[in-house]
Amino acid sequence: PRVPAPKNEPVLSYAPGTPERAELQSTLKSMSGERIEIPVVIGGKHVKSGKTDTVRMPHRHQHVLATLHEADAGHVEQAIQNAMSVKEDWARMPFHARAAIFLRAAELLATRYRPLLNASSMAGQSKTAHQAEIDASCELIDFLRYNVHFAQQILAIQPENSPQMWNMTDYRPLDGFVFAIAPFNFTSIALNLCLSPALMGNVVLWKPSSTQALSAWYSLELMREAGLPDGVINMLPGDGPTVGNPVLASPHLGGIHFTGSTPTFNNLWKTVGENIGRYKQYPRLVGETGGKDFIFAHPSAADDLEALAVAIVRGGYEYQGQKCSAASRVYVPESLWPKLKPRLQALISEIKMGDVADFRNFMGAVIDERSFKKVSSYIELAKSGGDATIVAGGGTDKSEGWFVQPTLVQCNSPRHRIMTEEIFAPLVGLYVYPDAKLEETLKECDQSASYALTGAIFARDRKAIEHMMSALRNAAGNFYINDKPTGAVVGQQPFGGSRASGTNDKSGSMINLFRWSSPRTIKENF
Ligand code: SER
Repeated sequence: PRVPAPKNEPVLSYAPGTPERAELQSTLKSMSGERIEIPVVIGGKHVKSGKTDTVRMPHRHQHVLATLHEADAGHVEQAIQNAMSVKEDWARMPFHARAAIFLRAAELLATRYRPLLNASSMAGQSKTAHQAEIDASCELIDFLRYNVHFAQQILAIQPENSPQMWNMTDYRPLDGFVFAIAPFNFTSIALNLCLSPALMGNVVLWKPSSTQALSAWYSLELMREAGLPDGVINMLPGDGPTVGNPVLASPHLGGIHFTGSTPTFNNLWKTVGENIGRYKQYPRLVGETGGKDFIFAHPSAADDLEALAVAIVRGGYEYQGQKCSAASRVYVPESLWPKLKPRLQALISEIKMGDVADFRNFMGAVIDERSFKKVSSYIELAKSGGDATIVAGGGTDKSEGWFVQPTLVQCNSPRHRIMTEEIFAPLVGLYVYPDAKLEETLKECDQSASYALTGAIFARDRKAIEHMMSALRNAAGNFYINDKPTGAVVGQQPFGGSRASGTNDKSGSMINLFRWSSPRTIKENF
């Protein structure tokens, strides 16, 4: 059957008085009142390992939402055996049957699981209703539907034939299993890390982040209800090395699908290198890692100051600056600064922050104590040195939740640590450059951070746009002109970066799905 051309899932508003708001509020309330147990899942079996961690609300950190069972080396071994035992059946299932499971999951999420996945992302990851909706519902639905569409297009790519012979490409899954290692910040990305390999016929060992375990668990339930056979995705929460080391030592490792920090991906890559003689195949390594995403304003953006200010605020502070794509360094010409500064200060001071159950809040808390301490140390750095000034925010409060005010720091140098290091929090560095030093500053933007994930330019002058696009050609895998650098939409802006930001295998596009296939070329003479 031909898959219908997908459309992006419309974003629900959750405005006062809407039915979706009432339903989400009541789901969130009941979720906050219970404490569930999240097991290790191996071959569809729920394993209570007994070695547990707790999942807490970042904005009310004394409140425990779930007990999380962690996997040990023995569980990893069982999961590998189990995955390898179901591998052939899954790989040989006709594509339309695998696709039906994914399309059914999209439909179930759109119609029934939406409040559950949104509420679990709000409670467990401190997302506002809107941020949860665009992630756990819309983007996840889009991944499910578009991936099926992309996979079907891939299968249709076939070689030339003649009357005497028959050539075919057989899109086989990889040898072995895929290890998916997921971040806390997007429920959709966490799931897509296992979904895209699985759709291409692979079996997966999935290590969700402990701080995303609540929405991970409900997402897996969604896939089970949609008909995903046991053992295709095995969930192994737990400590990184405890889970990772036995996986990386397995001869059956066929690929890694990773989103997380650059140092962790570097370590994975090294370990794979050290173990290379053990594997039965060369593992595919696909990673989306760190970022230091920029907004660069040109003097010709003068007519558009409001758009620029809004992009800095939304790009920098939505979801507490914890998107891989979040704006975290801004370059502004001196000619624009006198008007832009008070506007930014006004907008930032209006931001409401607090418990995400109060739908008026624009920001929740940062994910955990480690993140709170890290950003606090950068705020201290801004306060202590003479080479940076806090323009807005700068306050923190950990009494109930891990709250960090949206903070804007003006740095005297484009090489200040706040302008070059990944912080992953609502802290934006800003450098005001002399208009005459545009070229030098473009070079700084390109060279002074090692990452290249997302970036945005603001300019009205067409020639300036062309010039900046060229000067910053290698500085971002996702490049936005007169828009914030966040909010890539599946099917519209394939997502990924290069340099220290990853292998740029564009999630939300065919490019990513290709990586999970090992094509066989077949020739038959008639
Ligand atoms: N897809 C997300 C975004 O573009 C990734 O972080 O914001």
